[in-house]
Amino acid sequence: MIKAVEWKDDALVLLDQTRIPEETVYCRLTEVSDVFEAICSLMVRGAPAIGITAAYGLYLALRNFSGESPQFFAEMNRQIDYLASARPTAVNLRWALESLRQALLPHQDEPTASLKDRLFKLARALHEDDRQRCDLIGEHGQDVVPESCRILTHCNTGALATGGIGTALAVVYKAHQRGKKVHVYADETRPVLQGARLTVWELHTAGVPVDLICDNMAAALMQQGMADLVIVGADRIASDGSAANKIGTYGLAVLAKYHRIPFYVAAPLSTFDFNLKHGKDIPIEMRNNDEIRKVFNRCLITVPDVSCWNPAFDVTPPELISGIITEAGIIRAPYRENIQKVAHKQLFA
Ligand code: MRU
Repeated sequence: MIKAVEWKDDALVLLDQTRIPEETVYCRLTEVSDVFEAICSLMVRGAPAIGITAAYGLYLALRNFSGESPQFFAEMNRQIDYLASARPTAVNLRWALESLRQALLPHQDEPTASLKDRLFKLARALHEDDRQRCDLIGEHGQDVVPESCRILTHCNTGALATGGIGTALAVVYKAHQRGKKVHVYADETRPVLQGARLTVWELHTAGVPVDLICDNMAAALMQQGMADLVIVGADRIASDGSAANKIGTYGLAVLAKYHRIPFYVAAPLSTFDFNLKHGKDIPIEMRNNDEIRKVFNRCLITVPDVSCWNPAFDVTPPELISGIITEAGIIRAPYRENIQKVAHKQLFA
Protein backbone atom coordinates (compact mmCIF):
# COMPACT_ATOMS: atom_id res chain seq x y z
CA MET A 1 0.00 0.00 0.00
CA ILE A 2 1.17 3.52 -0.79
CA LYS A 3 1.78 5.55 2.37
CA ALA A 4 0.62 9.17 2.49
CA VAL A 5 2.00 9.92 5.96
CA GLU A 6 5.02 8.39 7.70
CA TRP A 7 7.28 9.17 10.63
CA LYS A 8 10.82 8.41 9.54
CA ASP A 9 14.31 9.39 10.78
CA ASP A 10 13.00 11.95 13.23
CA ALA A 11 10.82 13.78 10.70
CA LEU A 12 7.35 13.71 9.20
CA VAL A 13 7.42 12.38 5.67
CA LEU A 14 4.49 13.22 3.38
CA LEU A 15 3.85 12.10 -0.15
CA ASP A 16 3.18 15.36 -2.00
CA GLN A 17 -0.28 14.66 -3.44
CA THR A 18 -0.34 17.93 -5.38
CA ARG A 19 2.44 16.66 -7.65
CA ILE A 20 0.89 13.32 -8.59
CA PRO A 21 0.88 12.19 -11.43
CA GLU A 22 3.72 14.34 -12.72
CA GLU A 23 6.12 13.35 -9.95
CA THR A 24 6.22 11.06 -6.93
CA VAL A 25 7.92 13.23 -4.35
CA TYR A 26 8.20 12.65 -0.61
CA CYS A 27 8.71 15.75 1.53
CA ARG A 28 10.49 15.68 4.87
CA LEU A 29 8.95 18.13 7.34
CA THR A 30 10.50 19.20 10.63
CA GLU A 31 8.71 22.51 11.32
CA VAL A 32 5.10 23.00 12.38
CA SER A 33 4.66 25.86 9.89
CA ASP A 34 5.52 23.44 7.06
CA VAL A 35 2.95 20.98 8.39
CA PHE A 36 0.32 23.74 8.47
CA GLU A 37 1.15 24.69 4.88
CA ALA A 38 1.12 21.03 3.76
CA ILE A 39 -2.44 20.65 5.07
CA CYS A 40 -3.66 23.95 3.53
CA SER A 41 -2.12 23.23 0.14
CA LEU A 42 -3.47 19.63 -0.07
CA MET A 43 0.02 18.13 -0.08
CA VAL A 44 -1.69 15.84 2.40
CA ARG A 45 -5.46 15.54 2.24
CA GLY A 46 -8.32 13.28 3.23
CA ALA A 47 -9.94 13.66 6.64
CA PRO A 48 -8.08 10.97 8.66
CA ALA A 49 -4.70 11.68 7.02
CA ILE A 50 -4.81 15.36 7.93
CA GLY A 51 -5.69 14.47 11.54
CA ILE A 52 -2.66 12.17 11.78
CA THR A 53 -0.44 14.77 10.11
CA ALA A 54 -1.57 17.43 12.58
CA ALA A 55 -0.80 15.09 15.50
CA TYR A 56 2.80 14.73 14.31
CA GLY A 57 2.82 18.47 13.61
CA LEU A 58 1.94 19.17 17.24
CA TYR A 59 4.89 17.08 18.35
CA LEU A 60 7.18 18.93 15.93
CA ALA A 61 5.91 22.23 17.34
CA LEU A 62 6.82 21.22 20.88
CA ARG A 63 9.75 18.87 20.67
CA ASN A 64 12.32 21.62 21.24
CA PHE A 65 10.28 23.38 23.91
CA SER A 66 12.43 24.16 26.93
CA GLY A 67 10.05 25.81 29.46
CA GLU A 68 8.27 24.30 32.45
CA SER A 69 5.12 22.19 32.33
CA PRO A 70 2.50 25.03 32.67
CA GLN A 71 4.12 26.91 29.79
CA PHE A 72 4.26 23.69 27.83
CA PHE A 73 0.48 23.34 28.10
CA ALA A 74 -0.09 27.00 27.18
CA GLU A 75 2.09 26.59 24.11
CA MET A 76 0.40 23.31 23.22
CA ASN A 77 -3.03 24.98 23.32
CA ARG A 78 -1.77 27.75 21.04
CA GLN A 79 -0.34 25.24 18.56
CA ILE A 80 -3.52 23.16 18.61
CA ASP A 81 -5.59 26.20 17.61
CA TYR A 82 -3.08 27.07 14.92
CA LEU A 83 -3.00 23.58 13.38
CA ALA A 84 -6.77 23.12 13.67
CA SER A 85 -7.31 26.28 11.62
CA ALA A 86 -5.52 24.82 8.58
CA ARG A 87 -8.74 23.38 7.10
CA PRO A 88 -12.24 23.89 8.50
CA THR A 89 -14.43 20.99 7.33
CA ALA A 90 -12.73 17.70 8.20
CA VAL A 91 -13.36 17.33 11.92
CA ASN A 92 -10.68 14.63 12.23
CA LEU A 93 -8.16 17.45 12.35
CA ARG A 94 -9.61 18.97 15.54
CA TRP A 95 -10.47 15.51 16.88
CA ALA A 96 -6.86 14.29 16.62
CA LEU A 97 -5.44 17.38 18.33
CA GLU A 98 -8.12 17.37 21.01
CA SER A 99 -7.47 13.66 21.66
CA LEU A 100 -3.80 14.37 22.30
CA ARG A 101 -4.65 17.26 24.62
CA GLN A 102 -7.09 15.13 26.63
CA ALA A 103 -4.56 12.32 26.92
CA LEU A 104 -1.83 14.67 28.21
CA LEU A 105 -3.94 16.64 30.69
CA PRO A 106 -3.72 14.07 33.53
CA HIS A 107 0.10 14.35 33.37
CA GLN A 108 0.43 18.07 34.03
CA ASP A 109 2.75 17.48 36.98
CA GLU A 110 5.36 15.67 34.93
CA PRO A 111 8.54 17.32 33.62
CA THR A 112 8.48 18.71 30.10
CA ALA A 113 10.79 15.99 28.76
CA SER A 114 8.32 13.34 29.78
CA LEU A 115 5.38 15.29 28.26
CA LYS A 116 7.22 15.53 24.95
CA ASP A 117 7.92 11.82 25.04
CA ARG A 118 4.26 11.12 25.73
CA LEU A 119 3.16 13.43 22.91
CA PHE A 120 5.31 11.58 20.40
CA LYS A 121 4.02 8.19 21.52
CA LEU A 122 0.43 9.47 21.36
CA ALA A 123 0.89 10.70 17.80
CA ARG A 124 2.27 7.28 16.82
CA ALA A 125 -0.60 5.54 18.59
CA LEU A 126 -3.19 7.76 16.88
CA HIS A 127 -1.68 6.80 13.53
CA GLU A 128 -1.90 3.11 14.40
CA ASP A 129 -5.43 3.60 15.74
CA ASP A 130 -6.55 4.95 12.36
CA ARG A 131 -4.95 2.01 10.56
CA GLN A 132 -7.01 -0.37 12.67
CA ARG A 133 -10.20 1.64 12.19
CA CYS A 134 -9.69 1.43 8.41
CA ASP A 135 -9.38 -2.37 8.55
CA LEU A 136 -12.58 -2.67 10.56
CA ILE A 137 -14.48 -0.36 8.20
CA GLY A 138 -13.36 -2.60 5.36
CA GLU A 139 -14.58 -5.69 7.19
CA HIS A 140 -17.98 -4.28 8.18
CA GLY A 141 -18.49 -2.95 4.68
CA GLN A 142 -18.52 -6.52 3.30
CA ASP A 143 -22.13 -6.84 4.45
CA VAL A 144 -23.23 -4.49 1.66
CA VAL A 145 -20.96 -5.75 -1.13
CA PRO A 146 -22.33 -8.71 -3.09
CA GLU A 147 -20.06 -11.33 -4.71
CA SER A 148 -20.10 -9.39 -7.95
CA CYS A 149 -20.46 -5.65 -7.73
CA ARG A 150 -19.89 -2.45 -9.69
CA ILE A 151 -19.09 0.33 -7.25
CA LEU A 152 -19.18 4.03 -7.99
CA THR A 153 -17.00 6.24 -5.79
CA HIS A 154 -15.98 9.88 -5.54
CA CYS A 155 -12.82 11.72 -4.54
CA ASN A 156 -10.06 9.66 -2.89
CA THR A 157 -10.79 7.64 0.22
CA GLY A 158 -7.97 5.14 0.21
CA ALA A 159 -4.47 4.77 1.62
CA LEU A 160 -3.66 8.26 0.38
CA ALA A 161 -6.41 9.74 2.56
CA THR A 162 -5.88 7.79 5.78
CA GLY A 163 -3.36 6.05 8.01
CA GLY A 164 -4.42 2.65 6.71
CA ILE A 165 -6.15 1.17 3.68
CA GLY A 166 -8.85 3.82 3.58
CA THR A 167 -12.55 4.19 4.29
CA ALA A 168 -14.74 3.70 1.21
CA LEU A 169 -11.77 2.15 -0.59
CA ALA A 170 -11.09 -0.13 2.40
CA VAL A 171 -14.43 -1.76 1.60
CA VAL A 172 -13.32 -2.19 -2.01
CA TYR A 173 -9.88 -3.57 -1.07
CA LYS A 174 -11.30 -6.11 1.37
CA ALA A 175 -13.88 -7.24 -1.19
CA HIS A 176 -11.15 -7.65 -3.80
CA GLN A 177 -8.93 -9.56 -1.33
CA ARG A 178 -11.79 -11.92 -0.58
CA GLY A 179 -12.11 -12.77 -4.23
CA LYS A 180 -15.32 -10.82 -4.85
CA LYS A 181 -15.64 -9.59 -8.40
CA VAL A 182 -15.54 -5.84 -7.85
CA HIS A 183 -15.25 -3.20 -10.50
CA VAL A 184 -14.88 0.44 -9.52
CA TYR A 185 -16.08 3.50 -11.41
CA ALA A 186 -14.08 6.46 -10.12
CA ASP A 187 -15.39 9.99 -10.60
CA GLU A 188 -12.58 12.26 -11.73
CA THR A 189 -13.67 14.70 -8.99
CA ARG A 190 -13.29 18.23 -10.28
CA PRO A 191 -11.82 20.66 -9.50
CA VAL A 192 -8.72 19.05 -7.92
CA LEU A 193 -9.15 15.68 -9.63
CA GLN A 194 -8.52 13.46 -6.60
CA GLY A 195 -10.38 10.65 -8.38
CA ALA A 196 -8.42 10.83 -11.62
CA ARG A 197 -5.02 11.51 -10.08
CA LEU A 198 -5.18 9.53 -6.84
CA THR A 199 -7.97 6.95 -6.72
CA VAL A 200 -7.28 5.49 -10.13
CA TRP A 201 -3.56 5.28 -9.30
CA GLU A 202 -4.22 3.61 -5.96
CA LEU A 203 -6.64 1.05 -7.34
CA HIS A 204 -4.54 0.32 -10.40
CA THR A 205 -1.47 -0.24 -8.18
CA ALA A 206 -3.47 -2.64 -6.02
CA GLY A 207 -4.78 -4.54 -9.05
CA VAL A 208 -8.42 -3.56 -8.59
CA PRO A 209 -10.28 -3.11 -11.91
CA VAL A 210 -11.22 0.56 -12.33
CA ASP A 211 -12.78 2.81 -14.96
CA LEU A 212 -12.38 6.55 -14.73
CA ILE A 213 -15.45 8.65 -15.54
CA CYS A 214 -16.03 12.40 -15.70
CA ASP A 215 -18.27 13.64 -12.88
CA ASN A 216 -21.06 14.43 -15.34
CA MET A 217 -21.22 10.79 -16.50
CA ALA A 218 -22.48 9.36 -13.21
CA ALA A 219 -26.16 9.91 -14.09
CA ALA A 220 -25.85 8.08 -17.41
CA LEU A 221 -23.86 5.29 -15.73
CA MET A 222 -26.69 4.73 -13.28
CA GLN A 223 -29.40 5.07 -15.90
CA GLN A 224 -27.72 2.34 -17.94
CA GLY A 225 -27.69 0.01 -14.93
CA MET A 226 -23.92 0.01 -14.67
CA ALA A 227 -23.59 0.82 -10.95
CA ASP A 228 -24.83 -1.51 -8.20
CA LEU A 229 -23.59 0.49 -5.24
CA VAL A 230 -22.20 3.92 -4.36
CA ILE A 231 -19.68 4.24 -1.52
CA VAL A 232 -18.07 7.54 -0.57
CA GLY A 233 -16.10 8.89 2.39
CA ALA A 234 -16.88 11.80 4.69
CA ASP A 235 -15.13 14.77 6.21
CA ARG A 236 -17.63 15.49 8.96
CA ILE A 237 -20.86 13.77 10.00
CA ALA A 238 -23.36 15.63 12.20
CA SER A 239 -25.44 13.91 14.90
CA ASP A 240 -28.42 13.70 12.55
CA GLY A 241 -26.39 11.60 10.07
CA SER A 242 -25.82 14.40 7.54
CA ALA A 243 -22.46 13.83 5.89
CA ALA A 244 -20.14 16.47 4.46
CA ASN A 245 -17.87 15.11 1.76
CA LYS A 246 -16.10 16.25 -1.39
CA ILE A 247 -18.21 18.54 -3.56
CA GLY A 248 -20.31 16.40 -5.91
CA THR A 249 -21.19 13.77 -3.32
CA TYR A 250 -24.66 15.21 -2.69
CA GLY A 251 -25.41 15.05 -6.42
CA LEU A 252 -24.46 11.37 -6.48
CA ALA A 253 -26.74 10.69 -3.51
CA VAL A 254 -29.70 12.34 -5.24
CA LEU A 255 -29.00 10.34 -8.39
CA ALA A 256 -28.63 7.09 -6.43
CA LYS A 257 -32.01 7.66 -4.75
CA TYR A 258 -33.70 8.26 -8.09
CA HIS A 259 -32.15 5.12 -9.58
CA ARG A 260 -32.75 3.06 -6.40
CA ILE A 261 -29.06 2.32 -5.93
CA PRO A 262 -27.78 1.88 -2.34
CA PHE A 263 -25.71 4.86 -1.25
CA TYR A 264 -23.25 4.28 1.64
CA VAL A 265 -20.90 6.60 3.48
CA ALA A 266 -17.79 4.97 5.00
CA ALA A 267 -16.02 6.84 7.79
CA PRO A 268 -14.34 6.27 11.16
CA LEU A 269 -16.09 7.60 14.26
CA SER A 270 -13.37 10.28 14.41
CA THR A 271 -15.26 11.90 11.51
CA PHE A 272 -18.43 12.30 13.60
CA ASP A 273 -19.05 15.65 15.23
CA PHE A 274 -21.37 14.98 18.15
CA ASN A 275 -21.45 18.72 18.93
CA LEU A 276 -23.31 19.46 15.73
CA LYS A 277 -27.00 18.70 15.61
CA HIS A 278 -27.60 19.32 11.92
CA GLY A 279 -25.77 19.11 8.62
CA LYS A 280 -26.41 22.78 7.97
CA ASP A 281 -24.08 23.59 10.89
CA ILE A 282 -21.06 21.96 9.20
CA PRO A 283 -18.56 24.64 8.09
CA ILE A 284 -17.79 24.32 4.41
CA GLU A 285 -14.34 25.28 3.19
CA MET A 286 -14.26 27.72 0.27
CA ARG A 287 -11.10 27.29 -1.79
CA ASN A 288 -9.10 29.34 -4.24
CA ASN A 289 -10.83 30.04 -7.54
CA ASP A 290 -7.72 29.02 -9.44
CA GLU A 291 -8.55 25.41 -8.60
CA ILE A 292 -11.43 25.79 -11.08
CA ARG A 293 -9.77 28.12 -13.55
CA LYS A 294 -6.56 26.12 -13.95
CA VAL A 295 -5.42 22.53 -14.32
CA PHE A 296 -1.76 21.92 -13.45
CA ASN A 297 -1.20 25.67 -13.53
CA ARG A 298 -2.51 25.98 -17.07
CA CYS A 299 -5.43 28.33 -17.51
CA LEU A 300 -8.48 26.59 -18.98
CA ILE A 301 -10.64 29.55 -19.75
CA THR A 302 -10.85 32.54 -22.02
CA VAL A 303 -11.54 34.97 -19.15
CA PRO A 304 -8.60 34.13 -16.83
CA ASP A 305 -9.92 36.16 -13.92
CA VAL A 306 -13.54 35.02 -14.21
CA SER A 307 -15.32 34.94 -10.87
CA CYS A 308 -15.97 31.42 -9.51
CA TRP A 309 -17.82 29.65 -6.69
CA ASN A 310 -15.61 26.93 -5.24
CA PRO A 311 -16.90 25.13 -2.14
CA ALA A 312 -14.70 22.10 -1.40
CA PHE A 313 -17.51 20.04 0.16
CA ASP A 314 -21.26 19.54 0.15
CA VAL A 315 -23.59 17.97 2.67
CA THR A 316 -25.70 14.89 1.96
CA PRO A 317 -28.83 14.68 4.14
CA PRO A 318 -29.46 11.43 6.07
CA GLU A 319 -32.58 10.51 4.11
CA LEU A 320 -30.38 9.90 1.06
CA ILE A 321 -27.93 7.65 2.94
CA SER A 322 -28.58 3.89 3.12
CA GLY A 323 -26.08 3.48 5.95
CA ILE A 324 -22.82 4.74 7.42
CA ILE A 325 -20.09 2.09 7.52
CA THR A 326 -17.90 2.63 10.59
CA GLU A 327 -15.39 0.60 12.59
CA ALA A 328 -18.19 -0.13 15.05
CA GLY A 329 -20.50 -1.56 12.39
CA ILE A 330 -23.02 -0.10 9.97
CA ILE A 331 -25.19 2.68 11.37
CA ARG A 332 -28.61 3.01 9.81
CA ALA A 333 -31.70 5.18 10.37
CA PRO A 334 -32.89 6.44 12.80
CA TYR A 335 -29.46 8.07 12.65
CA ARG A 336 -29.70 10.44 15.60
CA GLU A 337 -30.55 7.59 17.95
CA ASN A 338 -28.15 5.03 16.51
CA ILE A 339 -25.22 7.46 16.24
CA GLN A 340 -25.55 8.26 19.94
CA LYS A 341 -25.24 4.55 20.77
CA VAL A 342 -21.69 4.38 19.36
CA ALA A 343 -20.49 7.84 20.52
CA HIS A 344 -18.25 6.41 23.28
CA LYS A 345 -16.32 4.33 20.73
CA GLN A 346 -15.00 7.53 19.15
CA LEU A 347 -12.54 7.99 22.01
CA PHE A 348 -8.85 7.54 21.51
CA ALA A 349 -6.31 6.79 24.30
O1 MRU B 1 -10.23 18.08 -0.10
P1 MRU B 1 -9.85 16.66 0.24
O2 MRU B 1 -9.12 15.97 -0.86
O3 MRU B 1 -9.15 16.58 1.58
O4 MRU B 1 -11.23 15.93 0.42
C1 MRU B 1 -11.24 14.60 0.84
C2 MRU B 1 -12.57 13.98 0.79
O5 MRU B 1 -13.57 14.60 0.59
C3 MRU B 1 -12.62 12.53 1.12
O6 MRU B 1 -13.64 11.91 0.41
C4 MRU B 1 -12.88 12.41 2.61
O7 MRU B 1 -11.88 13.09 3.34
C5 MRU B 1 -12.92 11.04 3.07
S1 MRU B 1 -11.29 10.42 3.10
C6 MRU B 1 -11.13 9.02 3.92
